[in-house]
Amino acid sequence: MVQTRQATLDEQFALRHPKSAALFAEAQRVFPSGVTHDGRYTQPYPIYVTHARGSRKWDADGHEYVDYFGGHGALILGHCHPAIVSAVTAQAARGSHFGANHELEVRWGQLVQKIVPCAQNGGMVKFVSSGTEATLMAMRLARAYTGRDTIVKFRGHFHGWHDYATVGMSDPWDQPSSAGIPRAVQNTMRAVPVNDVAALEQALSPGDVAAVIILLNGLSTEYLTQVRDMAHRHGTVLIFDEVITGFRYAPGGAQEYKRVTPDLTTHAKILAGGYPGGGICGSSEILRLLEHRDDAAWQRGRRIAHPGTFNANPVSSAAGIACLEIVQDPAIQRKAAATADTLRAGLREKLERRGIAGSVGGEVSLLNVSFSEPKVDARRLTFRFRTAMQMGGVDFSGLSAFVSAVHDDRDVEQTVRAFDQALVALREEGAL
Ligand SMILES: Cc1ncc(COP(=O)(O)O)c(C=O)c1O
Repeated sequence: MVQTRQATLDEQFALRHPKSAALFAEAQRVFPSGVTHDGRYTQPYPIYVTHARGSRKWDADGHEYVDYFGGHGALILGHCHPAIVSAVTAQAARGSHFGANHELEVRWGQLVQKIVPCAQNGGMVKFVSSGTEATLMAMRLARAYTGRDTIVKFRGHFHGWHDYATVGMSDPWDQPSSAGIPRAVQNTMRAVPVNDVAALEQALSPGDVAAVIILLNGLSTEYLTQVRDMAHRHGTVLIFDEVITGFRYAPGGAQEYKRVTPDLTTHAKILAGGYPGGGICGSSEILRLLEHRDDAAWQRGRRIAHPGTFNANPVSSAAGIACLEIVQDPAIQRKAAATADTLRAGLREKLERRGIAGSVGGEVSLLNVSFSEPKVDARRLTFRFRTAMQMGGVDFSGLSAFVSAVHDDRDVEQTVRAFDQALVALREEGAL
């Protein structure tokens, strides 16, 4: 008798996704490894998405997914929120770029001043086109303000892909996360372990540090207050990178949620309502380094130059205004966080029932899964998990999820079911 073998996860995936397979084959002849962002690379191959609405998206083969990639965290209001779609549509018909100042950028900046603690009470704002540009600008502002070169960051904290941000991302800590980073750049960065006050004190003590830049995820108010006080004691600018946490932890971001205010904050993602955009806000004394003055010496050598073709472009400004007007209501962040809590509880229960060692964590509407005894390396586990979840109609961002204010009970139920099936599939194939 012929023994029939159950199809592997990859075989089932391939049967369900022929159009994505064909697009990926073409993409590999256009882009290195076929992708346009590292986070979209996966194995056996990525799905190609045709459209999205609310908490859901659909791929080229007609499959529907509960989406937790959430525009890399930009979509706390889900896909195609009607207010954002109508603001963007109206603006696209009026013009996408005026090569001029426009009212929308003023209104957008005023909303930031109203909502974000470090921009209140006379703080100022500057728009750029991405989170990477925002952290680059914040570091440059701090360097110009203090006249010092060194930036202290924390091990594993991601601040985008410019040269300075590649330092101290993963073990071995003295090797940048990317090739092509000049040694001279690395020498201006000091990466210290988080939650280690003595290490931070040591890094600050030479007195040559322009800024401390930090993510707030998972850190206590007490520790963040210590970081702020230590930075200030050493004449160092404190930068909170709120590209992810801004407008998500609370309307005013994690600085409002954790009640610690920095000198400068960097934003992107939710700031621009799902369209390209970023920003820096905070101390006017520091931001005024971008000022134009009728002073030749200032203009030539002391001010910070700032071009950027798409800074505060009208379409992103329209989306940003529509989004911030909605997310300034704390009910939005509370709804997303409550859904994430329900999801965390559901996933934990499945881990326990299946007897798989791991945990489900994350703060407010950020959720992450970790497995403590995987049988494959971390990179492979991420690919296998993502594929297994996609087979159940759910798209995670690796092992993480950005929960939005429009995910509902039906989404949570489907996700918990997909997770349970994924655990079984990954155990069967020997990944867990
Ligand atoms: C905390 C943080 N900072 C900076 C960035 C870079 O932002 P962008 O991808 O818009 O360049 C990211 C991107 O995910 C981020 O998570």
